[in-house]
Amino acid sequence: MHPTPASASIGVRPMRLSDLPSVMAIDRQSFPRPWPLEAWLSELQNTAAHFVVACAGAPPAPHSWLRRWLARSRQSNMPVVGFAGMWMMTDEAHIATIAVDPAWRRRGVGEQMLRELLRQATARHATTVTLEVRVSNVGAQALYRKYGFEVVGQRKAYYQDNREDALIMTITRFTDPSYQEQLGLSARADAPRSLGMSASDHSSDAESAINNCAL
Ligand SMILES: CC(C)(COP(=O)(O)OP(=O)(O)OC[C@H]1O[C@@H](n2cnc3c(N)ncnc32)[C@H](O)[C@@H]1OP(=O)(O)O)[C@@H](O)C(=O)NCCC(=O)NCCS
Repeated sequence: MHPTPASASIGVRPMRLSDLPSVMAIDRQSFPRPWPLEAWLSELQNTAAHFVVACAGAPPAPHSWLRRWLARSRQSNMPVVGFAGMWMMTDEAHIATIAVDPAWRRRGVGEQMLRELLRQATARHATTVTLEVRVSNVGAQALYRKYGFEVVGQRKAYYQDNREDALIMTITRFTDPSYQEQLGLSARADAPRSLGMSASDHSSDAESAINNCAL
């Protein structure tokens, strides 16, 4: 039986190849310019990227390694209800995209994925976290503000579909111990995923994904 938004708990794990049909369906429902398959395949091989999915029905974090392992293997069969991704560019983490299945919004799914990206940014020694968001996307901006993002600039006519401006939002105090403590974002022992493309290959992907980061 599939979990419903009212009953399910949510787990967040790294994105896999087999998630792409669900991820691309959510992408199409969320953005005017969804990514083509090649872009997703490229991100799954990008060593400087960290892409995650949220799965519905995953049990709360268990304590022992055995229960953790069992939870992880169960998560692989759970329906994907959201995705998010970031790139590390030297010491800056750039949130590339985040979206939740429309039927699962306003249930904390976006928040859980964002927290996981911020944890990864900490583990990869980011000193700042940045993203672009449409000026009209007040829902996403509220999510980002909740996590300490502030508007630091604006890009005129940034989005190609309607020439809307983008706000540049950054967590300027990302490395402050008080910020890290407040959010429980201590560096974790998890090794970064070993994927495939170098950070210098990012500019074209960055452009397409930034255009995607909008409602
Ligand atoms: C933006 C998005 C990812 C948020 O995901 P979500 O799972 O619905 O968000 P959450 O339930 O985790 O919300 C967490 C907080 O964000 C804020 N928030 C999220 N959506 C909001 C909305 N529509 N209006 C106002 N505040 C909102 C609230 O502060 C909320 O906390 P609260 O529920 O305690 O009030 C989702 O709306 C989405 O997929 N939108 C389409 C794609 C998109 O615009 N992505 C962002 C591109 S930059």
